[in-house]
Amino acid sequence: MSELKKEIHRRRTFAIISHPDAGKTTLTEKLLLFGGAIHVAGAVKSNKIKKTATSDWMEIEKQRGISVATSVMGFEYDGYKVNILDTPGHQDFAEDTYRTLTAVDSVIIVVDSAKGVETQTRKLMEVCRMRKTPVMVFINKMDRDGKDPFDLLDELEEELNINVLPLSWPIDSGQSFKGVYNIYQRKLDLYTPSKQTVTNSVEFKNVASPELEKHIGDRLASKLREDLELVEGVYPTLDVEEYLKGEIAPAFFGSALNNFGVKELLDCFVKIAPYPRSVTAVERTVQPEDNNFTGFVFKIHANMDPNHRSSIAFVKICSGKFERNAYYKHIRLDRQMRFSSPTAFMAQKKETVDEAYAGDIVGLPDTGNFKIGDTLTSGENLHFKGLPSFSPEMFKYIENDDPMKTKQLQKGLDQLMGEGVAQLFTNQFNGRKIIGTVGQLQFEVIQYRLLHEYGAQCRWEPISLYKACWIESDNREQLEDFKKRKFQYMAKDKDDRDVFLADSGYVLNMAQQDYGDIKFHFTSEF
Ligand code: G4P
Repeated sequence: MSELKKEIHRRRTFAIISHPDAGKTTLTEKLLLFGGAIHVAGAVKSNKIKKTATSDWMEIEKQRGISVATSVMGFEYDGYKVNILDTPGHQDFAEDTYRTLTAVDSVIIVVDSAKGVETQTRKLMEVCRMRKTPVMVFINKMDRDGKDPFDLLDELEEELNINVLPLSWPIDSGQSFKGVYNIYQRKLDLYTPSKQTVTNSVEFKNVASPELEKHIGDRLASKLREDLELVEGVYPTLDVEEYLKGEIAPAFFGSALNNFGVKELLDCFVKIAPYPRSVTAVERTVQPEDNNFTGFVFKIHANMDPNHRSSIAFVKICSGKFERNAYYKHIRLDRQMRFSSPTAFMAQKKETVDEAYAGDIVGLPDTGNFKIGDTLTSGENLHFKGLPSFSPEMFKYIENDDPMKTKQLQKGLDQLMGEGVAQLFTNQFNGRKIIGTVGQLQFEVIQYRLLHEYGAQCRWEPISLYKACWIESDNREQLEDFKKRKFQYMAKDKDDRDVFLADSGYVLNMAQQDYGDIKFHFTSEF
């Protein structure tokens, strides 16, 4: 195997997703402990943004600033290079999370055993399903009284619309939690509450052995045997191919806070999770092992300090090797560029790197050259397919409040939209600009940044909309007829595509009924 191939095949780039408070930060921290990337628990700054802070978004941005350092956490483990991509916890930044999911090769979902599947998890799983991303589940907080494990797995299957497969099985829960039987490694992992230590495991190939009683007592031993028999009857054995196709999600039980079940998750993860997958560009499918470098920008982190206007563009390397100071082509600008200080993220340190491989993320200091979705290559004219936009949930007209600063407003809006802060639609009927977001916070962010970074003043005016749908049809006549009839509600997105602004669910339903040949999409990538 070539050196390049070896490097790529040992990479595991993934994101941990969860509903806020399920334990994402805690699990991340424990994984870093195993990777030797940090040495004490509590070292990872929480990227969690408490709901109560919504009124003070500057505070939130400060917290997000912290998250630059923890945006990507790389570490070495057992011969593997693991890259964890962090995702913002606050739901108003869900769009950021969606985009991050385009840069990962797999996902670990954390679920709180008492709460089960929650809204945010459901939405994020939809994105994973759309992209066929392989998923593993960590059922957390087993040290608390939770739901029955069979019920939980049923709930996961139903709510997340994916088959799950338990690879460990809990022995009781809450106060009397004894540990798990590790089905994957055929051993008994006994639980001792502690924030730092590693699980005490006993090899246990055969649970029929009377030794089991010695460890967990008569009642729990026979319950475990019964449960495992049922598990064996109900769930198939692990087929890694199915997992890699995103059809089945292996599940582990544990307690991140007590560092229980985490190493087992990690051990299985590095073994079966995919190395960088092929990526589809408009022109061709790009294989990670291709010798030539290609990559795309999936996230831009602006510096909130107006004195240092540079931002960081995060590039996911799709193929080959990235080298510092080499010339690469910025496709949209049709320009050769070289980067003298690309950064990689090892643990919590951001450091300049000389090279990075497919699967890795590099951070490129930027002063406005990059937009989300931009492609960089060694020279080939290639366009990675645009990152998906999702129909926003909130809409407002944006108006210029200072006629002397029209240009500044235009420029600011262009850049902020390029960073993916929100989506801009232009109404074809009256030419007014509409900003769509997933949360109220973005409106505040935009207004503040336009003023402080571009000297432009904007004001918001209400518009009552339900959804923005991208429309397409092979039936040109019907499409034209629809656009004519709904001309007041037709808009263009940033790429000049047709978007229908439905002002209610009812209107949308009627439109779908009346125009059977038109497809109404809630994401821009279809
Ligand atoms: P998030 O990033 O998904 O939002 O969750 P985070 O890890 O911050 O965890 C949310 C809360 O749940 C934290 O408590 C954390 O200590 C707790 N937690 C995480 N894993 C477990 C577990 O296995 N068992 C139990 N019992 N609790 C767990 P907090 O009080 O909100 O924060 P903190 O003050 O403890 O940091």
